Amino acid sequence: MNEKIKLNTSPYCNYNKAFTVYDQLRQPNGLRELLQIFKQIDIPVEKQKILEGGFGTGAYIDYIRHDVKEIYGVEGSTEGLEQALQKMGNAANVHLQLGNILSLTFADDSFHAYMVNQVLHHLDTEPDYPNLNVFLKESRRVLKPGGVLTINTSSQEQLDPHLGVYWNYKYIEKAAHAMQARYIPIDELIFRMEQLQFADIQTTIPSEKIFHEHYYNDPYFALEPDFQKGDSVYSFLSQEEIEEANARIRLDLEDASVQEEMKRADDCAAEIGEAVIVSARKI
Ligand SMILES: C[S@@+](CC[C@H](N)C(=O)[O-])C[C@H]1O[C@@H](n2cnc3c(N)ncnc32)[C@H](O)[C@@H]1O
Repeated sequence: MNEKIKLNTSPYCNYNKAFTVYDQLRQPNGLRELLQIFKQIDIPVEKQKILEGGFGTGAYIDYIRHDVKEIYGVEGSTEGLEQALQKMGNAANVHLQLGNILSLTFADDSFHAYMVNQVLHHLDTEPDYPNLNVFLKESRRVLKPGGVLTINTSSQEQLDPHLGVYWNYKYIEKAAHAMQARYIPIDELIFRMEQLQFADIQTTIPSEKIFHEHYYNDPYFALEPDFQKGDSVYSFLSQEEIEEANARIRLDLEDASVQEEMKRADDCAAEIGEAVIVSARKI
C-alpha cells in the first residue's frame, strides 16, 4: 500500500482493491432518510448544493443527484473515482474529485448539506480519534450557516460480535473488536459535535440493509474471497485467521448453528438497525 492510499482512503483497507467487488456486495442504506433530512433544510432540495465525502464508488451520489441542484464528491481512491464516473456519465450537476476530506479545497460556506456514509471509522488509528475533530471542523467550515452535516456510521451495539447485527462477526471476533475500536461511540460523537458548535443533533436509523440479499440468506456467501475482499473488517485478519474462521463456519453449518446465528442477527437488526445517521445543523 503506498503512502497516498494510506493518507486519503483508509489506514487499514486498500479500497482500490475492495472496489473491484464492492458494488456486488453492498447497497447504499439510508437514502430515503438522508433525503428526508435534506428536505428539512430551509431551502428546497432541488435548489440545494450537496457534498459527499468519501463517496466510494458513487452509489449515494448516483441516487441523490436526481433530487438536488448540484452535488460534489471527494474521494481518496482512484478506483472509486473511476467507477463513480462510469456510473454518472457526464451528468452536468455532478462534480467529483480525488482528495482528502481532512483538508477540503472548497471555500467556506459552500454547501447546504454535507454527507459522509460509513467513512468515519477510516479517519483515525489513535484511540482518542484526533482526525475526527479535524473532519468536524472542516465540515463546519464548508457548510453554509444553517447547513446540515449527516454522518452515517454504526454503533458499538450494532458491531458487537455476539449481540450485534452482523452474523459473521461471531466467527471473526478479533476483527470485530478491532472494528469497534475504530468507531467512536455515538454518544461521544454527539458530544464532540456539540462542542464544535453543531446544533439540533438527531439520530435516525436507516431502514435498508447494508449488504446484498445473499449475505442474509446464504451463509456460503460470507465464505467467498470476494465478499471478504469487499468488507474492510477482514483487513484485520491474516489469511490463516480467515481460513480458520471459514472452517468454524463450515463446522457450524452441520448442526445449523450458523443459521440460528443468522436468525438472531436478523432479529437484532430489525430492532436496532444496521447503521445510525447522526445529523446536525451548523450554527
Ligand atoms: C466504507 S467506504 C464507504 C464508501 C461510500 N461512502 C459508501 O457508503 O458506499 C469508505 C470510503 O471512505 C474513503 N475515505 C476514507 N478516508 C478518506 C479521506 N481522508 N479522504 C477521502 N476519502 C476517504 C475511502 O476511500 C472509501 O471510499
